[in-house]
Amino acid sequence: MASAVQDKPGLQGAGIDANRSLLSEQDAALVDALLEEGQAHLFAGWPPAGEADDAKRKLLDQLLHLDKNYAGGLRAYIKNARKLLHDSKEGVNPFEGCVPSVPEGEKLDFGSEHFRELERAGVAAAAGCAFVLVAGGLGERLGYSGIKVALPVESASGQCFLELYLKHILALGAKAGRALPLAIMTSDDTHARTEALLKDNAYWGASANQITLIKQEKVACLSDNDAHLALLDKEGAFEVQTKPHGHGDVHMLLHTSGLADKWQGEGFKWVCFFQDTNALVFRALPAAIGVSVAHDYDVNSLAVPRKAKESIGAITRLTHPDGRTITINVEYNQLDPLLRATTNPAGDVNDDTHYSPFPGNINQLVLKLSTYTAELHRHGGVIAEFVNPKYTDASKTTFKSSTRLECMMQDFPKNLPEGSKVGFTVVNQVWAAYSPVKNSPADAAAKGAGGNPSHSATSAELDWYETNCKMLQMLGATVDGPLPAQFNGLNDLQLWPRVTWTPLFACCWDDLEAKVAAENVRIGADSALVIEAPQARIKSLELKRGALIIRGSGPAGPAARRAARGEDAAGAEEGAKAGAESAAAGGEGEVVVEDLSVENEGWEWAALGPDEGCAEEEYIRGFRVLRHGQKVI
Ligand code: UTP
Repeated sequence: MASAVQDKPGLQGAGIDANRSLLSEQDAALVDALLEEGQAHLFAGWPPAGEADDAKRKLLDQLLHLDKNYAGGLRAYIKNARKLLHDSKEGVNPFEGCVPSVPEGEKLDFGSEHFRELERAGVAAAAGCAFVLVAGGLGERLGYSGIKVALPVESASGQCFLELYLKHILALGAKAGRALPLAIMTSDDTHARTEALLKDNAYWGASANQITLIKQEKVACLSDNDAHLALLDKEGAFEVQTKPHGHGDVHMLLHTSGLADKWQGEGFKWVCFFQDTNALVFRALPAAIGVSVAHDYDVNSLAVPRKAKESIGAITRLTHPDGRTITINVEYNQLDPLLRATTNPAGDVNDDTHYSPFPGNINQLVLKLSTYTAELHRHGGVIAEFVNPKYTDASKTTFKSSTRLECMMQDFPKNLPEGSKVGFTVVNQVWAAYSPVKNSPADAAAKGAGGNPSHSATSAELDWYETNCKMLQMLGATVDGPLPAQFNGLNDLQLWPRVTWTPLFACCWDDLEAKVAAENVRIGADSALVIEAPQARIKSLELKRGALIIRGSGPAGPAARRAARGEDAAGAEEGAKAGAESAAAGGEGEVVVEDLSVENEGWEWAALGPDEGCAEEEYIRGFRVLRHGQKVI
């Protein structure tokens, strides 16, 4: 087959010329483009036509696929990569010459009157909210073999992250009188298992068409500074190495899938983005939605206080030399030199609050949908990329392993027109807003030893109990504890009473206050309280010691199911008695707990010994729960 490349001396790939007869017109166009971009090595190992043709076809199909799934195709990818690799080698700071300052935003105390007012406004505005969960990440740091959204949030109820998120959205939708949509971005690594998890659990009561899965594609890896695509070293196969492109893909997918436009057409006003393993997000998100409404923000980043130089991104306003401003996440290692070079020779330092004035980005965003869709139509949702090669040495000429271009969802505001309203919502109490599961036990222990948050399955579970206990305390309950604990080499942990409830019971402060007469509630330090009944009401309760599950008449949650199966010693029997004794049925499905005093053997959060056999979910926490006895209502 004739080709433009054949007429250009020096562009013929060694192996490709002997295989031209195998190429369709579409293949040839792509192959020629790649040869022009210096990618002849991709075909150099090809034997003549007739040999290993299936393997060649596989490579061609893969290249066509990679070409189709990148805006501008593989050629654009290689050109972008060459520029970014050059800048990386030269150490170019993308924000060079910009002057950083603290943007406008709200700093809120969790549970304060102001917080609760904003939360009320956010819950009211939730009728206009669509939700987006980015869940395509590999979770390499955690090293869990399953998908992260299937992990239990905590061991008391056993609810998993996806269940918790969906039930929050269902609870907000019930208040709004409308099904609120959820899009979940998956990847080849997570798609099938996410779909199966949803189906196996009948979407936890959501309707299937309320949830849309959008799958991101991987991008080609690069083996050197010239952006040569990296081939897999695999006997008998011709294949390009690929890796995830980052969560920034979500914007392009919301555009190409038509979802963002659809939501806009259905009258939704806000779109909220969140991550796979931060159980606390919905403790803070409604207030952030309230802030977006109050300030009419185009972009609002949920954030937490960060110590100066702490290794999380900072929400920063940058003024360019030409006077343009943007408010954006700036990585900590870029912020400090920028400050030193401009406004503060000391760099990023704590102020009298003992924190940096620049809030810490936790990648939970509330975007105004009309602004968002307008931007998607302007640039197709293509987000500025970066590259982060691990070089072999200071000469920066070779990589330890192949790299790839990446993009981040929080970089969306980079392209916003001047005058856009970009702000933040800080929740001053980190324990109430951000506690993700990111690190393996060994890495978590090292982080903990260095005085940093461990962001582990252990800390996420314990923080969940702490937040819930403190909410009850702030409403007037007496909650004892916490008890000291050590798990997985993390010392100085605080084990609060294991209090947890479904979002269908309470998804905001006002719900909790209305359903729990907190001043009549006392919870002992060594106890667990699991509320699975959406219609439970607690008028007075003394949980001296032990475990109490309030199940109600609805379908049993994981904790109650376990008890009913008799997996927990004394569970079902005690449960039956307790139901007769102490719970009165109120209105439909209502369970009223009044004058109830509970004391039983309870549940023990037992630290795992070294080499003790256990489930992976227990291993990453460093404990297993021994259920000696409980009361089930
Ligand atoms: P993380 O920073 O937790 O990264 O992603 P990760 O890829 O999941 O885990 P490591 O780095 O391999 O350990 C933050 C959020 O972005 C999603 C993740 O699923 C998580 O919710 N994400 C990340 C994607 O959806 N796609 C990606 O390509 C990367």
